[in-house]
Amino acid sequence: MTKKQLEESVAYLKNKGFDRPEIGIVLGTGLGQLVNEIEHPIEAHYNHIPFFPLATVEFHTGKLIYGTIAGKKVVVMQGRFHLYEGYDFLDVTYPIRVMHLLGIQKLLISNAAGAINLSFKKGDIMLIEDHINLQGGSPLAFKNVAEFGDRFADMSAPYDKDMNDRLKAIAEKEGVSIKKGVYVSVVGPQLETRAEYRMLKILGADAVGMSTVPEVIVANHLRLPIAAVSVLTDECDPDDLKPVDIEEIIKIASATEPKMIQLFKALIEEL
Ligand code: HPA
Repeated sequence: MTKKQLEESVAYLKNKGFDRPEIGIVLGTGLGQLVNEIEHPIEAHYNHIPFFPLATVEFHTGKLIYGTIAGKKVVVMQGRFHLYEGYDFLDVTYPIRVMHLLGIQKLLISNAAGAINLSFKKGDIMLIEDHINLQGGSPLAFKNVAEFGDRFADMSAPYDKDMNDRLKAIAEKEGVSIKKGVYVSVVGPQLETRAEYRMLKILGADAVGMSTVPEVIVANHLRLPIAAVSVLTDECDPDDLKPVDIEEIIKIASATEPKMIQLFKALIEEL
């Protein structure tokens, strides 16, 4: 990754009309309906943006969409890149650096995750308050990282307290129940064994998924305030573990998404 590549990606998008978005939004697996809320959308397919990683996975349509939500200029990633698809940490986080260079001031992230905390149920929404990186690498471990920011990025408060407080207040006001917790990221794509779920619980995780942490590390590197929510799609009870059903995970994500959209829209309006 070079600055010149990023600048070419950004120049392409500006030329298409991506004019100084204020807020970046990353949509997770099964969580694409928020794009229906974008007014005056302009789309850029990942495969057309110079130096963008090439989109592959069948669940995602893979595009950046610019427009307005609640009167704010936004840029939305419909579909993200995962390590489990064979991308590396720099690929996975490249779009975050592009959105930052386009001018975003805040980043909202969503994902589908499994509930490790068994007081949480599928169909719940969890506000991420902290995370554990179990992906075995870092998006900041590259030679010229110092050209882009501090090598030793601070991670003492990776999720923005102000946006989290607002999301909690909005959820309360709108009568949406919201859990809070620690998200642990794994590489995947295989789901966890019973022993692994036990381990993740002991480590202090409330939810597990295969994304988000690399993007959050890079956003912290860029000093970009982040709020992230997990849509809980399955219950990871090691003493009563059902075989995974990816169709079911996607179905639950889609069914729960309207609650997430409600929260994100109200937050965007306030920002
Ligand atoms: N594990 C990892 N990733 C996931 C899960 C899970 O149980 N559910 C949804 N994404």
